[in-house]
Amino acid sequence: MLSTTPLRIALRALLAIAAALASSAVAADNSYDLWLRYPRVEATHLNYYRARATAIVADCSTPTMRVACTELQRGLSQMLGRTVPIRHVPLDQSRDGDIVLVGQRSIPLAGIGDQGYVIATDRTSGHRRTVIAANNGIGALYGAFEYLRLVQTRREVADLKIASAPALPLRMLDHWDNLDGTVERGYAGRSLWNWSKLPRIDPRMIDYARADASIGINAVVLNNVNADARLLTPEYLRNVAAIADAWRPYGIRVFLSARFSAPIELGGLKIADPLEPAVRGWWKAKADEIYRLIPDFGGFLVKANSEGQPGPQTYGRTHVDGANMLAAAIAPHGGTLLWRAFVYSGEKATDRARQAFDEFAPLDGKFASNVILQVKNGPIDFQPREPFHPLFGAMPHTRVAMEVQLTREYLGENAGIVWLGTMWSEALRSSTARPRPAFQVLGSLSTIAGVANIGSNPDWTGSDFDQANWYAFGRLAWDPAVEPAQIAEEWTRMTWGNDPRAVKPIVKMLMTSREATVDAMTPLGLAHQMATGHHYGPGPWISDLAEPSWNPAYYNRADRAGIGFDRTANGSNAVAQYSPPIARCLTDTACVPETELLWFHHLPWTYRMRSGATLWDTLVERYDRGVSAIAMMNRSWSQLGPLIDARRHAAVASSLRRQLLESEWWRNSSIAYFQSLSRLPLPAGHAAPPRPLSWYEGVRFDTVPGFLTPRIGSCRSSVVVRGDPPCAP
Ligand code: GCU
Repeated sequence: MLSTTPLRIALRALLAIAAALASSAVAADNSYDLWLRYPRVEATHLNYYRARATAIVADCSTPTMRVACTELQRGLSQMLGRTVPIRHVPLDQSRDGDIVLVGQRSIPLAGIGDQGYVIATDRTSGHRRTVIAANNGIGALYGAFEYLRLVQTRREVADLKIASAPALPLRMLDHWDNLDGTVERGYAGRSLWNWSKLPRIDPRMIDYARADASIGINAVVLNNVNADARLLTPEYLRNVAAIADAWRPYGIRVFLSARFSAPIELGGLKIADPLEPAVRGWWKAKADEIYRLIPDFGGFLVKANSEGQPGPQTYGRTHVDGANMLAAAIAPHGGTLLWRAFVYSGEKATDRARQAFDEFAPLDGKFASNVILQVKNGPIDFQPREPFHPLFGAMPHTRVAMEVQLTREYLGENAGIVWLGTMWSEALRSSTARPRPAFQVLGSLSTIAGVANIGSNPDWTGSDFDQANWYAFGRLAWDPAVEPAQIAEEWTRMTWGNDPRAVKPIVKMLMTSREATVDAMTPLGLAHQMATGHHYGPGPWISDLAEPSWNPAYYNRADRAGIGFDRTANGSNAVAQYSPPIARCLTDTACVPETELLWFHHLPWTYRMRSGATLWDTLVERYDRGVSAIAMMNRSWSQLGPLIDARRHAAVASSLRRQLLESEWWRNSSIAYFQSLSRLPLPAGHAAPPRPLSWYEGVRFDTVPGFLTPRIGSCRSSVVVRGDPPCAP
């Protein structure tokens, strides 16, 4: 028993230290904090940063400035291990080491617009201060996050001269959330918007807005593009207004997916013809009602005449008629109408990859000025690799958005690591050669929209590493030209710490993960080889679906003679949709990138690749290269054990093991199927699939998240539920 007072005091002190250590360990491994975890700066750097952040000088009186001040204080205080005070004093009274945060200027700062900021070391007053200045609060908030990032990633802050403004005014996340809380193609739990609890704002919705603001995202579509008209009823709109109010300080404008037939479903009209005065009147009244509730409502996103959704063509009208009618309803309020170009139909005899271009390119210049045409990054549908969509650069008189998918519908859902920064950057930097030879896709854009993968899971995105795709999306939307490796390194340092022994291998894993996935699933330009409906796992043999372009066999066109989709002038001539120099290269097997070979060409199995090896041997080699790269990621991660907290390390390790199993499953199924057609032996050193083709063809899944119609089936005799390894070989 402890009797002496000094001993008791000593014990209490020890317990306090232990508790502090325990709580900092918990904080360190908390996936909820995303890249905003702000752990304490290590002793070697502490004084350097402390000397440059002695106090924050700011007027924190507006809602957005309050958020900026709070964030800066919270981040710095946590990282520097002492409270950084906020003082509201005239600027000439600021002192050495102050961070001066300015979100309002009588004379606007040139060159940064209304969302940008400057961060500069200022010595003019005889004091050395850091000034974060913007023309309004939101710029100051973005600047505050950038300053925090500099400290989080251990960058120099002694002599700063940064000016940053977003390349694109609208940086948007599209949530495919349904009103019942499910998320289409969502692998991270349920929707964050709980309609039965709104208008009460869950604190998590504020943390969501904070995370978005930290990477510059300023627009959010709340609901699925396969929209439910009920969201436009007064009951729901009141709740939408509550969300808009809560997010306004974070600079986020709310948008809704609008169902084109809402005038019928909600307004009791018989038709939704966009040229019908009663329909136009209904939408105008609806827009007026929304803007009374939400004066800064962003606008509508519309999926029309696509995959069964209603649209203007139902009434013999065009996409322009439909889009301009809705645009007119919201234009007086400053609203924006995003109209999706994702259209295709098996009723048309043409190649699906051609259809959106054929439909929309002739409409260039006809859309109202507040319409943005939202085009997926590639011509099919978010495949592991696609060439860029030919509409980019081909509609110079239309505002165009690129839509990418953060959620990994076609990339293994949430298993393992597939970082998409490299993939989006590849699309953004593709040369369109329109109007000039060196012109890139990113020069033709006015918006980037990302289909979110954010849900109610504690880690938000279904895995620690999927957070990196959210981060990369925001950073690329702010600056589409930024190097993916820089984004990867920032995120790694902010999420896993600054120890170079961890940073280097993690960045390498991020940078190589997408190519590994392409190789293991759909190498050499193959696409859409996924199983039906849920798109989880391989199904290259599937050819019996009524919609032709839902069949993997439609894309691989594999037969006894060869494999690949001929999109040259001898085939569907989709190449002609690209500018002539690009089309010429894609047509020529000696020029087309090898990574897109089978997207554009149908070739014999014995075709000689540039390496001299046959196409068949190369295809097999690519699958194995993908599996090996994923095995390598597993090994790299396991070596990081001592440097990563145990919980997150174990979670990622298990997810990577799953990714490895799945890549073997993809490799084995695909080789078994294609070999049944090529009838060629496997190249030396490459193992035969361990099971017969019929076994792979028999794999069925009971439930797969993100897909509303579960298919009942069996994996041989046992039912496989996503979450277990796929029918362990
Ligand atoms: C894909 C996806 C659908 C989605 C559609 C779209 O086809 O599988 O779930 O609705 O894209 O983007 O509209």
